[in-house]
Amino acid sequence: MKNQTVLITGANAGIGFEITKGVLLKNNTAIMVCRNREKAMNARKKLIDLTKNNKVHIIIADLTQFSDLRHIADEVNEKFDTIDVLIHNAGSFYSKWLLNDANIELTFMVNHVTPFYLSHLLLPQLIKSEDAKIITINSDSHFLAKLRIDNLNLKNKFQGLRAYGHSKLANVMFTYHFEKINPYDNLTIYAVHPGLVNTDIGIKNTNWLFSLIWNWRSKQGKTPEQGAETALFITHSPGTNLESGRYWDHNQPKKSSTASYDEAMAERLWKKSKDLCGIVNYF
Ligand SMILES: NC(=O)c1ccc[n+]([C@@H]2O[C@H](COP(=O)([O-])OP(=O)(O)OC[C@H]3O[C@@H](n4cnc5c(N)ncnc54)[C@H](OP(=O)(O)O)[C@@H]3O)[C@@H](O)[C@H]2O)c1
Repeated sequence: MKNQTVLITGANAGIGFEITKGVLLKNNTAIMVCRNREKAMNARKKLIDLTKNNKVHIIIADLTQFSDLRHIADEVNEKFDTIDVLIHNAGSFYSKWLLNDANIELTFMVNHVTPFYLSHLLLPQLIKSEDAKIITINSDSHFLAKLRIDNLNLKNKFQGLRAYGHSKLANVMFTYHFEKINPYDNLTIYAVHPGLVNTDIGIKNTNWLFSLIWNWRSKQGKTPEQGAETALFITHSPGTNLESGRYWDHNQPKKSSTASYDEAMAERLWKKSKDLCGIVNYF
């Protein structure tokens, strides 16, 4: 396989760090999107020490903000002609109902709207690749959710776990609808469940009770390196050998929730997501 340029969001910690490490170990180029410069620089140094590959670029962006998503696209456009793999790894879990400047609830923004919009913004670089892939790191927690198409912010219905599963369900439906209308033969898309993984995701924006439960529960999970395996398997396999537009776990496709296969709902979500991002034509 020829050398790849891979953009990974949330690359400084947890599963994203391990995905970036795996990309660099194959002598590929990594673009790390991180919100905190100091954490990003520390992670970059560690990654170079571990892999002896210094083809690591950093873009600083807060994925809750539309202006930062456009900044990512501008910087990519300036420095890179082609992106072979776009990995939407960054994810957040919030105990509190918080909105961004555009009045979008933060869990829904980071976990669904950001992958939706960033995939659109980076299409010009992706379609230049002979074998372009979009991978979203999803979660089996979507099995618990039902899409609230008329209340995507879950106003007055908010509960952290519910919001997380809801955003991940939207994200699977994005993957399926993208596959359905994708006009490019050289571009494939995958949703990946990493398993339960021992990371800090559950203690960052959560209340004391959830943090306590996560601290106990996540210790029973996989290592971040194990959590990165399926995303790396897809990244490093030719798209022609993989089933695009599927939900993946343990290096193979599996069934997602019944709700996720509702095509009419996915189309409505697609339209609403376009409106939220101010996109007229996606392709
Ligand atoms: N851990 C699990 O058991 C599990 C299970 C299923 C799915 N997942 C999914 O796996 C993905 C990775 O999660 P993880 O467990 O590795 O969590 P993590 O260790 O907390 O890593 C998440 C990464 O995303 C970044 N991030 C979060 N919000 C951001 C924002 N607004 N702007 C920019 N970067 C942001 C974080 O940056 P900071 O370091 O600055 O916070 C960090 O780099 C997520 O999509 C998560 O939903 C995880």
